[in-house]
Amino acid sequence: LVDNIRNGRFKTGMTDEAAEYTSSLEADKEIFEADIKTNFAHTSMLKHTGIIDADIADNILSALDELKDEGYGALVFDPSVEDVHMAIENYVTSKIGPQAGYMHTAKSRNDQVATDIRLVLRERIIGIQIGILEFIEGIVEMAGEHLEDVFIGFTHLQHAQPITIAHHLMAHAQALKRDYERLEDTYKRVNLNPLGCAAMATTSFPIDRELTTKLLGFDAYLENSMDGVSARDFIAETVFDLTSLCTTLSKICEELILWSTYEFGVIEMADEYSSTSSIMPQKKNPDVAELARGKSTIVNGELVTILTILKAIPYTYNRDLQEITPHLWNALKVSEDTLSIVTRMLLSVEFNTERCAELAGRNFATATDLADIMVRERNIPFRTAHKIVGRIVNEATASDMAEEDITSQFIDDIAVELGFDKLELDDELIQNALNPRENVKIRRVLGGPAPEMVELARDNIKIFLNEE
Ligand code: ARG
Repeated sequence: LVDNIRNGRFKTGMTDEAAEYTSSLEADKEIFEADIKTNFAHTSMLKHTGIIDADIADNILSALDELKDEGYGALVFDPSVEDVHMAIENYVTSKIGPQAGYMHTAKSRNDQVATDIRLVLRERIIGIQIGILEFIEGIVEMAGEHLEDVFIGFTHLQHAQPITIAHHLMAHAQALKRDYERLEDTYKRVNLNPLGCAAMATTSFPIDRELTTKLLGFDAYLENSMDGVSARDFIAETVFDLTSLCTTLSKICEELILWSTYEFGVIEMADEYSSTSSIMPQKKNPDVAELARGKSTIVNGELVTILTILKAIPYTYNRDLQEITPHLWNALKVSEDTLSIVTRMLLSVEFNTERCAELAGRNFATATDLADIMVRERNIPFRTAHKIVGRIVNEATASDMAEEDITSQFIDDIAVELGFDKLELDDELIQNALNPRENVKIRRVLGGPAPEMVELARDNIKIFLNEE
């Protein structure tokens, strides 16, 4: 029989199958360094409070230091090792003998694993936040190059109203800013210390939870030991934040895919982010964007898995909780990779500004402004103007007329046909209203696409970037 924690309670080990089935070793690689930190803080606290002998504590601490230097490869895994916590304890035992057994005084793997996950997660959150800030910075710069470049905005994927490329890009920047802020808020609930909750009811040893909280850089300790070992809502919340981020990224990819088609012809993707076909030599396919769109879906699945495991768990620790963690690591990995590649891909896109302008001026995307000048110049109700312009577009489209062919005479014929008075609008005013550049210029309200308003939005987000 191998020497391990089972020997007291059991006469046999698990079957190999059961051992493998219950092992968390694969996912535990993620918390290896954090587990050393947790053990270090706990042992230091045991020393400081006099719960264990200072010499023994020092031996444990130097063995942990050695392990930190030697790395994960120094651990020995035989089938009796359930998880990284046992492997680390075994390592310390191999260095200092049975004295290692003192390190587990007043500690359980239950509070230990919860602490480790939080330690790793807070670093990963910060890493993703930095990635988001870099992406926003790149977008703001890119937008600066396209402040005056008109483009078509869509609703229902139908031509809606003219905007600028900059205004569209800055919409993504705003969504990313919220994704950042969501993680910022979640961080407050991640950076809390479960250590000292032990198995679920703390311990009778006079441990100092405030000390381990300080040593591990947590903002506070979790106040209830039962909550401390079993709470994983901080994971669900983080993964939700990641689904939101990946939704933003996936939507960007969806547009890049559409825009790069021959039919849209709005952008040219960089060759570095394109693939070709094994049979059709002409192909330039947006595979990276497609895979980013596909992979971001994985994160949604992970969120559902995590929530579904959590909802069936009675207080306190249940082994099901172990099954949550790999889904967290996977969600983080997919999100980090997707954020990184979508950042580089979007920032390397070339806009076909002529094609953007052409689309903005066609298909009566400027019709709202024609209705607006009727209201402004002749003080008619907007609904009446809406009706007249709707009919203008209907007849113009049927007879293949373009925006340039709309005259005051044509408008008045339709107005009269619908039972309204003639409007007698100036032809130049009409053409101005139908011009996409003029449309954009006069949308000068807060949040609007006029170049100076987008410039203001860029300034505001730069202030945010500087503060973060
Ligand atoms: N591998 C376990 C997990 O991830 C560590 C805690 C094990 N606790 C236990 N009582 N078996 O949850």
